[in-house]
Amino acid sequence: MAHVGRPWTDYKPPASAPVWAAIEGLGRYYILVAALELDLFDSIQKLGPSTVEQLSDELSLPTAHLRSLLDSVVALELLEQVRDVYDLNDAAKRYLVSDGPATMAGLVPVAPGPHENWTRLADTVRRGRPATPIEDDAAAFYLPLVEGTFTTMHRCATRADLKLRYSAMSRPRVLDLGAGLAPWAVAVLEQNEHATAVINDIPEVLVKAREKVASFGLTDRVEFRAGDFHKVHVEDEGYDLVVLGHVCRAEGAQGAENLIRRSYAALVPGGRLVLSDYFPDSERKLNPHAVLMGATMMASTTRGFTFTHEEFSNWLSAAGFQTIRLIEPIGFQQCFVAVKPSPKEMN
Ligand SMILES: C[S@@+](CC[C@H](N)C(=O)[O-])C[C@H]1O[C@@H](n2cnc3c(N)ncnc32)[C@H](O)[C@@H]1O
Repeated sequence: MAHVGRPWTDYKPPASAPVWAAIEGLGRYYILVAALELDLFDSIQKLGPSTVEQLSDELSLPTAHLRSLLDSVVALELLEQVRDVYDLNDAAKRYLVSDGPATMAGLVPVAPGPHENWTRLADTVRRGRPATPIEDDAAAFYLPLVEGTFTTMHRCATRADLKLRYSAMSRPRVLDLGAGLAPWAVAVLEQNEHATAVINDIPEVLVKAREKVASFGLTDRVEFRAGDFHKVHVEDEGYDLVVLGHVCRAEGAQGAENLIRRSYAALVPGGRLVLSDYFPDSERKLNPHAVLMGATMMASTTRGFTFTHEEFSNWLSAAGFQTIRLIEPIGFQQCFVAVKPSPKEMN
């Protein structure tokens, strides 16, 4: 009999590891959520290298349960352990203590969307929509999300200056649509003292954006414009930079194209659109992070999916943008940068 499969399945069965990885994925996530909720990382930062007894005294938690959790976090490679002593490793210091330089502590609990939607995923696929989409109460979902993502997106926007050189522009006017706490507008205003910005979001999120902008001392160069980004008034040819930061994937294909067209109209000739999102490749299989982000959108929104590089570049070209490039200011954060041509450059 000829051997079959790759590797030959009649001779060597395939590994079950991908199935175990999926099963363990749930536990891995909730171990990290619990460790953050119980302040493990901040407590170890405060106490220094600690035994389980020292941590159980500090946190008033039963020793056996705490040891099980600590050992699991070590298994996740997010803590160090030498004999009975636990300590922060470099990843925990950077991403998991609440004042870490690139902290994701606030993001972990909210990034997958409402957790209960995952338990109903098969129903969502059957019905073609989630039973409780985030659009039913957008503010309740987005307020903690934009708090949790600010540090990462602000880092991305700040680093993007190496490619965009917005710090060297003369008096740039920025339009940040669906700005959240405005990581992009804040980064530009910080690095260019002559920049001004219009920051748009839904009213509840704008209240928090105001506080964030004030904490950077930038309020006097900002107009806050509440409203639906598909309808809110936007001046034609009024801006040098328009930012669509992680908004398109919640809007469906039509919504994303509409935002791209609105951005084009808002830009002066020579102005640039910065569009950040998670982009799968054309076959939707080489970038699992972007593909799984698409499933996250499908699980919790009425029309959200991730769209490929090719789809976005086609939409950008169709809107009239000409010089289109992709940058990755920090790991996992890609942005299209697209230029609105001046009339003489149009073909
Ligand atoms: C994923 S967050 C992105 C925040 C920010 N732009 C960034 O890059 O980090 C999406 C933001 O879009 C806002 N948003 C969603 N639908 C909107 C709409 N129809 N009009 C205006 N803002 C909207 C949400 O409130 C949220 O602040």
